[in-house]
Amino acid sequence: MNPGPIPRVRTAGLGKSYAVPVLCGVDFQCLPGEVHALIGANGAGKSTLAKILCGLVRADAGTLELDGRPYAPSGKRDAEAAGIHIVHQELNLIGTLSVAENLFLAGLPRRMGIVDRTRLRGAAREALARVDLGNLDPDTPVGALGVGVRQQIEIAGALARHCRLLILDEPTAALMDPQIERLFGHIRRLRADGVSTIYVSHRMDEIRRIADRVSVLRDGRLVATRPAADLAPDEAVRLMAGRDVESRATAPRAAPGPVRLRVDGLSRGATVRDVSFEARAGEILGIAGLVGSGRTELLRAIFGADRADAGGVAVGGAPPRRFRSPREAVAAGVAMIPEDRKEHGLLLPRPIRVNATIAHLAAFRRRGGLLDRRAETRAVERAGAAMDLRSSGPEQPVAELSGGNQQKVLIARWLMRDAEVYLFDEPTRGIDVAAKAAVYRLLDDLARRGKACVVVSSEMEELMTLCDRIAVLSAGRLVRTFERGAWSHERLLAAAFEGVAGTAANRGTEP
Ligand SMILES: Nc1ncnc2c1ncn2[C@@H]1O[C@H](COP(=O)(O)OP(=O)(O)OP(=O)(O)O)[C@@H](O)[C@H]1O
Ligand SMILES: [Mg+2]
Repeated sequence: MNPGPIPRVRTAGLGKSYAVPVLCGVDFQCLPGEVHALIGANGAGKSTLAKILCGLVRADAGTLELDGRPYAPSGKRDAEAAGIHIVHQELNLIGTLSVAENLFLAGLPRRMGIVDRTRLRGAAREALARVDLGNLDPDTPVGALGVGVRQQIEIAGALARHCRLLILDEPTAALMDPQIERLFGHIRRLRADGVSTIYVSHRMDEIRRIADRVSVLRDGRLVATRPAADLAPDEAVRLMAGRDVESRATAPRAAPGPVRLRVDGLSRGATVRDVSFEARAGEILGIAGLVGSGRTELLRAIFGADRADAGGVAVGGAPPRRFRSPREAVAAGVAMIPEDRKEHGLLLPRPIRVNATIAHLAAFRRRGGLLDRRAETRAVERAGAAMDLRSSGPEQPVAELSGGNQQKVLIARWLMRDAEVYLFDEPTRGIDVAAKAAVYRLLDDLARRGKACVVVSSEMEELMTLCDRIAVLSAGRLVRTFERGAWSHERLLAAAFEGVAGTAANRGTEP
């Protein structure tokens, strides 16, 4: 007999196949009050396992138990009734609904059948305060917010509910340290109350800080379960990949060339305030900042995805202007890889091939205008191989790919197209350790080919690895720029907070 405690959740021989098997004979256990990390390369089956536990996907082999009893959720509602909640990897908030409505979609407070707005707002404020978004108006439509804020809202929603098992599928992919620490505080409190957490992440440092045990999935099989303290990062990577992975370090690049992008006094409402900087040929310029500091908004304003109200953008030797649409920016030689791949990037039902080549079909036209499908497919295969894309081939619909592999398709699209200036918004969000190294190589390559790259990232380690300089945004302003060698984790963080105290106070007086 099993002498240990009865697991909160247990799977035995769990299997799931789509066209090919994606989970195979998985025996997994999460104990009461345990924080159990689930790691694995992109496409290893982490989200699929999570979705089976929360009733969104039906397993086709094996059994589930919840607190020692057979458990077979008929759907998400059923799982929620049993106390299992999930924060998804892909954002699931509805853009046209308000923050408050999204938070309580399933259980809107009603009086005589009518949604009680006052109570809804109050409950939303309370939930938001828990994730440091006390200043956010619950009536804001979610569509207006960046990925980081939306992720925080999803977390707030899960924390506001009573649960026995919380599943977080890459909850911190767009968050920076202080927000992550806050989330960990919540997880620790839940742990003390005996709530179990399954924590999916590609960030090894987080896993060591928060997890009790770690399970590793590789190609749909559970290859190891270990106490987190006993699993060195190198070994974790080896277990995930089944081989050694090269390190990220790259050789120093030559000194940068002439200015390729000059941003001058760019402003947009309260989110981007009078931002000026330059990026040179052959340079990678990082942009750091907390969630809500205006990182995404800045890139969107440069690219013409949102209209700037003041200032200008000069590309190459051209005079400064404000792009009125991404089309104009692209024509001027700017490419942007957006952070929200679902909304601004991918055509989910269409194949990988179409998604990768859509921005530069002209390159594959033969004389007479016909598309050279063979050349197109070859180019897509090459790009896929360079990033270790896991798919059944160029014709597979993007909707069927794992989150990290979708991101790779989006990057491939823009790398195929030639531009002078590349704007990357969280280029490695959701990407596994091995593929991250590949993305870093690609960025380094672009810089060596004389492109100017601007990279927004929540991972300071990533910026410090990649960049020649790092500019820090705080409350919409560019407060500081660090040269390589002059930065440190602490300094970057201090700069990120520089403008925050003031604005928090100001916000209280805003209507
Ligand atoms: N609806 C679907 N149809 C076909 N294949 C699917 C479907 N959903 C998932 N898959 C495949 O199942 C495999 C596992 O996907 P899953 O999303 O579980 O990976 P993951 O470990 O969460 O990866 P990531 O780190 O990229 O999020 C992938 O190869 C994916 O392409
Ligand atoms: Mg996933």
